[in-house]
Amino acid sequence: MTGAEPLEHYLDARRADVETALRAWLPGPPQAPAVVATAMRYSIEAGGKRLRPILCLAAAESVGATKGLSAADAREVAMSAACAIEMIHTYSLVHDDLPAMDDDILRRGKPTLHVVAGEGMAILAGDGLLTEAFGLLTRTTGTAGASPDRRLRAIAVVATAAGACGMVGGQALDLDAMPRPGVPAGAPLDADGLRRMHALKTGALITASAVVGAIMAGGDAATEHAIRQAGEHFGLAFQIVDDILDVEGTTAGLGKTAGKDAAAGKPTYPAIFGIEESRRLARRCITDAEAALEGAGLHHSRLAGIGRWIVERVN
Ligand code: IPE
Ligand code: IPE
Ligand code: MG
Ligand code: MG
Ligand code: MG
Repeated sequence: MTGAEPLEHYLDARRADVETALRAWLPGPPQAPAVVATAMRYSIEAGGKRLRPILCLAAAESVGATKGLSAADAREVAMSAACAIEMIHTYSLVHDDLPAMDDDILRRGKPTLHVVAGEGMAILAGDGLLTEAFGLLTRTTGTAGASPDRRLRAIAVVATAAGACGMVGGQALDLDAMPRPGVPAGAPLDADGLRRMHALKTGALITASAVVGAIMAGGDAATEHAIRQAGEHFGLAFQIVDDILDVEGTTAGLGKTAGKDAAAGKPTYPAIFGIEESRRLARRCITDAEAALEGAGLHHSRLAGIGRWIVERVN
């Protein structure tokens, strides 16, 4: 349930929890060479909204409440998975910003990793974050500890969402839609193609965040299904809003270069539908997510509140 705690307080508290856990779980010297460990920490500690780990924790709380788990216990049991997903997301940003991809110099309000550490080290730090994440997913956290069977399922869900059937696949479609030196661009994307690209490059990991939270907290198949549906709507809404903010936001406000999509001729929601219709479509995704949650009796849960944050956010 949403409880008396206002959403902003909740988000700040969860962000702090996640950042403390991430700091503790990132590898460091002497086991890991300082040069790569420092690069990994640079991108993780640069900040970010921590949407995905918070979504994972909120899903765990929402499902845990139906299983007699306290909110704190539910969050603890999902914390390693939440942090693992944030590591994978951060790796995706490091690689997304590389000159061979979106070629961005600013991320989370700081120079991108390849700008400060060079392209090779940025690639390796991304590889390190991705790989460490799967190690972290195997860890049990919390006194209520998820069973090995649940942890294995969570690993499978994250692997599918991060790989070629998910984020990597979506990033490949994004890249393929762009003309690159020596490589002909693929066919231009229509509205269905754009939705699929967004569902894969962004939606898959956001969906997995919520689903894995539900799995770790002991959710049954029907609850997991409803949360997956809600997560897919959240994910699409999130990327539509990202596209809108690229047009309407400022570089200072976003902590990343504004206006890049139009400059690069990227297929985006505003480019195909215009700003107003894009906003309407994002809001409709949230209504659809709420309907999916209602089906599982979770429409008053913390998870439902996160949907409003996704569409109302300004960075
Ligand atoms: C940016 O993600 C990349 C997308 C998938 C749109 P976020 O907007 O969640 O970035 P951070 O984590 O807050 O920096
Ligand atoms: C990136 O989408 C999605 C990822 C998987 C990283 P964008 O390229 O639109 O993300 P930003 O705008 O650079 O954060
Ligand atoms: Mg990109
Ligand atoms: Mg980008
Ligand atoms: Mg973007």
